[in-house]
Amino acid sequence: MELITETEKMKTWTREKRANGMKIGFVPTMGYLHQGHLSLMKYARSHCDSLVVSIFINPAQFGPTEDFKTYPQNLDRDLELMKPIPVDMVFNPAPEQIYPDGFQTYVEVAKLTRVLCGVNRPTHFQGVTTVVAKLFNIVRPHLAVFGQKDFQQLVVIQRMVKDLNMDVEVVGQPTVREEDGLAMSSRNVHLLPGERKSALALSEALKLAQEMARQGQRTAAEILRAVKKHIESQPYTQLQYAVLVDPETLEEVEVIEGKALLALAAVVGKPRLIDNAIITAY
Ligand code: PAF
Repeated sequence: MELITETEKMKTWTREKRANGMKIGFVPTMGYLHQGHLSLMKYARSHCDSLVVSIFINPAQFGPTEDFKTYPQNLDRDLELMKPIPVDMVFNPAPEQIYPDGFQTYVEVAKLTRVLCGVNRPTHFQGVTTVVAKLFNIVRPHLAVFGQKDFQQLVVIQRMVKDLNMDVEVVGQPTVREEDGLAMSSRNVHLLPGERKSALALSEALKLAQEMARQGQRTAAEILRAVKKHIESQPYTQLQYAVLVDPETLEEVEVIEGKALLALAAVVGKPRLIDNAIITAY
């Protein structure tokens, strides 16, 4: 496994791989890896000849009061975790490599970023799309893999790729969970024991909604009432949103026809956690 910190070197490496006809897989991350990241890498590994993972805590996607400064990081631990995959290249640029002096160009997906997380994090997705567009230009992958836990991010990136005719296939992979159901997230490390217990309410609420749908409930308001009650009854927890939306347009639905995405966000203690599930109408 090699590690590159400079943008130009990364571009040279990828140019050579492409010239040799290799299919490049890419998993962008902000580091502090967990099994969820590793499952994305395994998918990319099994579909490509060469695998690049980026580790870059992207300042542009954090709001002024958010956790940029406390975002967990440990490069040695990450490198160790990636060894068995195996990863060919780790791209670990310093912020100046991505945002050099004079930087002033941003990528924005207009509508899909105004809802769900975009309400509480109005500048977040512009930071995400900008860095992902740049990483795609630097790494030039054939295939890029993202987690479905960040469902809105995945939909936004797929829209960007389509709208800007980017030559990369973007694939989503299922959320990986702890044994008790908590969705894996780098931010979980900041949960104190009592908060960790409260955080379980998110995945429990998803199961509750799935069970209500299985029993024939299709009215969004009814399902959301039960979901909100369950999450709001937990200590240390501030629910930001619980919505049922169309999985493609992210527009709210009143009645579940076919499939709807139940998307949740809550601040539990300090970390802000998100989770989601597809709810199928019976
Ligand atoms: O999902 C993440 O970890 C980040 O949003 C990403 C895609 C690496 C962009 O910084």
